[in-house]
Amino acid sequence: MNDASGPAALQAGPAVRVRAPGKVNLLLSVGPRRPDGYHPLTTVFLAVDLYDDIEVRPNPLLRVTVHGHGADEVPLDGGNLAARAARLLAAHAGFDTSVDIRIRKRIPVAGGMAGGSADAAATLVACNELWSLGLTGPELHDLATRLGSDVAFPLLGGAAVGTGRGELLVPLPGPDGTQFHWVFALSPRGLGTVAVFSEHDRLHIGGEARSEREVLTDLDRLKDALLGCDVHALAAVAERGNDLQRAALSLRPDLRGTLRAGREAGALAALVSGSGPTCAFLAESAEAAAELAEILSASGTCRQALVATGPAAGCTALR
Ligand code: C5P
Repeated sequence: MNDASGPAALQAGPAVRVRAPGKVNLLLSVGPRRPDGYHPLTTVFLAVDLYDDIEVRPNPLLRVTVHGHGADEVPLDGGNLAARAARLLAAHAGFDTSVDIRIRKRIPVAGGMAGGSADAAATLVACNELWSLGLTGPELHDLATRLGSDVAFPLLGGAAVGTGRGELLVPLPGPDGTQFHWVFALSPRGLGTVAVFSEHDRLHIGGEARSEREVLTDLDRLKDALLGCDVHALAAVAERGNDLQRAALSLRPDLRGTLRAGREAGALAALVSGSGPTCAFLAESAEAAAELAEILSASGTCRQALVATGPAAGCTALR
């Protein structure tokens, strides 16, 4: 998509800004690889208030610029997920127009918190508004699932069960305004999702996955913990809920030190976030999270430790 040739009105107008949340998986049960290469998942996503901000404005060429830590690791060509989102939405609307996309990153790049997916979801929402398309939530959801397994969730935010390859979402009732307090220990370098799934396959040759019954029990426990705002019950499931953790630790043994440092500093749960390498720690309170972040930041086991809370809202336009 080069020269803009959409309706003249599409070339004018102000920029639209959308904020998208990162996520942590409270449960990530991974089944055997499917013939299409994907793995069937039973997961519980929790959106957290570690946000990327996306700004789109009319531009004759599709252009992406990224600011923030790790920006130089984000592809800026047509393979960029936000660029693909803009192209997909334009094609869906049946015109050939383009945008300038500016991304301010706070969600770690290649960090297991679905930052690229958040950027793509935010771009769908922003371009829908910029181009006055009026697409509904379900229509955006459908486009999101075509971009990637994790792109639909940031549209919703909150907490949700994901099945299929992670894109089939059922929202979970939240803890009525109460927030869970997290610390995220960021790694100096990213980890590729594909590599972690491949390592998972390699490690599980002849191994056993959790039984369906165990997964359903954990799912029920998580639903109750979220509804009842029971941080200890949430911690108990989350601590051992990530099937990709073993593979992430196999590729990045140094993360064991990060998890240990968080546990020793009093985290209620210490886990790898999604496919990693970000490590997530659950804390009892905002004060406990701040203290934990300080200790982790000084521990030398991570690049930086950030506090965050969840559930956070899904993609939201900034006025
Ligand atoms: O869906 P997405 O493009 O984000 O997935 C990236 C890669 O992660 C896939 O190509 C696949 O290797 C792996 N993946 C998987 N099973 C899933 C989701 C992702 O194996 N459920």
